[in-house]
Amino acid sequence: MREIPKEIIEEVEKLREEIEYHNYRYYVLNDPVITDEEFDKLMKRLIELEKKYPELVTPDSPTQRVGGRVLEGFKTERHTVPMLSLDNTYSEEEILEFDKRIRKTLQEAEVEYVAELKIDGVSIALRYEEGRFKMALTRGDGLEGEDVSENVKTVRSVPLRLRKPLTVEVRGEIYMPVDEFRRINEERQEEGLPLFANPRNAAAGTLRQLDTSEVASRKLDSFIYYVVEPEKYGLKSQWEALEFLKELGFKVNPHSRLCRNIQEVVDYWNEWKERKKELDYWVDGVVVKVNGFDSQRVLGETSKAPRWAIAFKFPAEQARTRVIDVTIQVGRTGVLTPVAELEPVQLAGTVVKRASLHNFDYIKEKDIRIGDHVFVEKAGGIIPQIVKSIPELRTGVEREIEPPESCPVCGGKVGKLSPEEVAIRCLNPHCPAKLKRALKTFVSRDALDVEGLGEKFIEKLVDSGLVKDMADIFYLTPFELAQLGPGVGQRTIAKLLQEIEEAKSRPLYKLIAGLGIPMVGQKIAKTLAEHFGSLDALANASYETLQDIEGIGPEVARSIVEYFRNPKTREILEKLKKAGVKTEEKVTKYDVLRGLTFAVTGTLRRFTREEILEFLEKMGAKVVDNVSRNVDYLIVGENPGSKLEKAKALRVKTMSEDEFLHFLKDRVEKKGYDFEELMRSWKG
Ligand code: IVH
Repeated sequence: MREIPKEIIEEVEKLREEIEYHNYRYYVLNDPVITDEEFDKLMKRLIELEKKYPELVTPDSPTQRVGGRVLEGFKTERHTVPMLSLDNTYSEEEILEFDKRIRKTLQEAEVEYVAELKIDGVSIALRYEEGRFKMALTRGDGLEGEDVSENVKTVRSVPLRLRKPLTVEVRGEIYMPVDEFRRINEERQEEGLPLFANPRNAAAGTLRQLDTSEVASRKLDSFIYYVVEPEKYGLKSQWEALEFLKELGFKVNPHSRLCRNIQEVVDYWNEWKERKKELDYWVDGVVVKVNGFDSQRVLGETSKAPRWAIAFKFPAEQARTRVIDVTIQVGRTGVLTPVAELEPVQLAGTVVKRASLHNFDYIKEKDIRIGDHVFVEKAGGIIPQIVKSIPELRTGVEREIEPPESCPVCGGKVGKLSPEEVAIRCLNPHCPAKLKRALKTFVSRDALDVEGLGEKFIEKLVDSGLVKDMADIFYLTPFELAQLGPGVGQRTIAKLLQEIEEAKSRPLYKLIAGLGIPMVGQKIAKTLAEHFGSLDALANASYETLQDIEGIGPEVARSIVEYFRNPKTREILEKLKKAGVKTEEKVTKYDVLRGLTFAVTGTLRRFTREEILEFLEKMGAKVVDNVSRNVDYLIVGENPGSKLEKAKALRVKTMSEDEFLHFLKDRVEKKGYDFEELMRSWKG
């Protein structure tokens, strides 16, 4: 092992301490003391040192929080102490019953309780050795859980180093904040993936992801509320345990309350039943815990749940209403989402008029019809959802909801992209509903690379009606752009128009990649550009020709033919050409003669001197003036010169123009190209 300078080891150690401290200030206390920039600087330095000295990387280094690994699976591990669940109650009477039982067993007139919010997340056990994070386990069946350490490390509020070097196991909840839940569901809706029904499912689904980068990108958070074997640390009560957890650096819910008797618990419950909407995470009740650990020990537990705690759930927020109609929304990726238009109803503080029906499978499964009486609930306390229909109340006028046969926005064909997908999409790449997304692709770096056209600008251009298809960006005038209002000044306009002008002469493959032909990404775009050399040649290519090209399968070929068959595509191509966008590249590089060296002598029939040289080069060959042993072939035309003699002397192979063309045809076809087409495109 190489010697690592002591200063480096110390610096790495110091950086980790510092970074963890600032992490704690930011994610646990919500009270940062340095700027994001300063934080990034520390992180960058640590990454740099760890790259240089990989031997120094430890599993609890802050650099390990960013994900980037793909796990093969999760191994199971036994819990040190079983992870119990809780009994539920829903009413004040039941909670008074619970208190009565406890007072009876403990033989006390009043019992102290800790009332905590019941976080709707996933329970987790965290193990630390000498203050360092060692492992995170899910509850599993209560006896054995899954080791999700790598994923939990991405949760910034979970300390990788405690503020005291203790060996300890703690438990709590990993949850997904409401905003994040909403964002991810919107994204999933657009991608046509099934939605997470609530934040708990979302958190659980995320923790079980094998791609740790994906986990890191979803901002999970934590609240810790339980110390395993608290007596080891001299703790006498739950209230002390919460304080202890805070001291160790865990994120502890700030709303827990020490209650002198059960009435104060009921008050707490009544208060939070209303106030829960103030929170940016979802809570579904209150957990009531006997405060004293001695008392907890006396009460004991059943095999499933402790007798000293109970979950006092909030009432489910449901309301009854009727489905007046079903409308269809078309998302940016073309996903058709059915939306129920409801008779307005008061639900958990807001008036609900609409509810997403997710997809047509969902409607079928729940048997929801237009005219039905239904129960609505707020999924995750946020998104109104139809829980069930009430078929008993049908009168016979209700109508079943059928998936539309065409897109309600453009009238285009609809269908599924793959059989596994639940979503139905509009398949027309030019559907106006998809225009913003299409423009984003069109001007992206991989395509026409118009830097000044960001997402916000695209929104403005489309919303103002200035841009109705992608070719329209080449027709924008300074006057029109100035109408877009404040923030779009003369300089911005001049710069943007300049960039758009430059975008007209990007390489052909970039233009093809930008068109948004389904299943055609940059790689296939390159193949197509090289093969066809012009957008027109591509647009007129037959299914058979396309399919014969190496790297292009039948599905992609079909998608390309469909795309160019669309009259709107033709219109856009015409507009692009008219605007002066470069849609051809004279001859593309076919590369069929790569590695071969040619020389030419005499006059050819089909090519001038310049042409044959250029042609050979375009085919990837090397062309030399003089014949030497390094020449593979000499092409011999009429009235050859001395080169032919030399070739004979050196035993260099010779071929006539026709022989050359046969040789070429053979190679071209072996590569899957169409020879006729190649010759045509060469001629331009
Ligand atoms: S105490 C043995 N406290 O609710 C003690 N649980 O329905 C058991 N939960 O599995 C847990 N917030 O995942 C406790 N403040 C809180 C909680 C809480 C949420 C979850 C926990 C538990 C489930 C039972």
